[in-house]
Amino acid sequence: MSPFPKTHQAPTQIAPDTFVIHDHTGEGHAPVMVPINSMVIRGEQPVVVDTGFADNEDQFLTDVFGLVEPEDIRWVFVSHDDVDHTGNVNVLMDAAPNATLIINWFMFERMGTTLGVPPHRTRWVGDGETFSAGDRELVAIRPPVYDSPTTRGLFDPTTGVYWASDSFASPMPELVTTADQLDPDVWRDGMDMFHQYVSPWFTMLDDTRYQRSVDRVEALGATTLAGCHAPTVHGALVPAAFAQIRGFADAVVPDLPGQDTLDEIVAAMSAGAAA
Ligand SMILES: [Fe+2]
Ligand SMILES: [Fe+2]
Repeated sequence: MSPFPKTHQAPTQIAPDTFVIHDHTGEGHAPVMVPINSMVIRGEQPVVVDTGFADNEDQFLTDVFGLVEPEDIRWVFVSHDDVDHTGNVNVLMDAAPNATLIINWFMFERMGTTLGVPPHRTRWVGDGETFSAGDRELVAIRPPVYDSPTTRGLFDPTTGVYWASDSFASPMPELVTTADQLDPDVWRDGMDMFHQYVSPWFTMLDDTRYQRSVDRVEALGATTLAGCHAPTVHGALVPAAFAQIRGFADAVVPDLPGQDTLDEIVAAMSAGAAA
């Protein structure tokens, strides 16, 4: 067991029938924490969006099934094939016999045998395509910043919530659930840093084309932004988040942590274990 047990944050409702499932990394052994969120849309045909890290399986399933019965889950949408988004996809699909997994061809190929879901229980939905979840038509749209070629976000026009996958990511100096709980400078600097970290090819950006890709997402008219590594962004902060992501390539951000940081983490963990 970790010498630094995590603080559980209960699911938070961010819009009608829409809930963020919270997890995080870093508590106790890193200077900042990183949200590891998922989402549940509890509509006519309930949808789970992304599935977190595998090490959070028990809490993830408890939180999801506290909102929706396993047999009622109709769709599981995975935004891309990274382990912090797919960690519980197999156990969730096993537990939810009536669910169809929304992925795409490339995710199917890249996950290979790590994906334990048979093809007939999947549907391939690409960037710009939609699928019906009963009382709502959900739109898969690639976010402005991403780290896998399989990435699609998910927009729900009935609530105005856009699931941005790895976009709008920001670390948390302390546990929060919404962006307005962070110091505004910390939030903006955190987004710049994470956007450069997850998309190191930003140095090759054609800014005009990049701005067009942001225009495409902003034109959805989202009123709430949620994401795997983002404190939820509501209302007046939504345009601020878009303004920040438009200019992240020009920001000066800290270098990626190196061996010195690892030494500090190991020392902190050793001290914690000895306490
Ligand atoms: Fe990712
Ligand atoms: Fe991620």
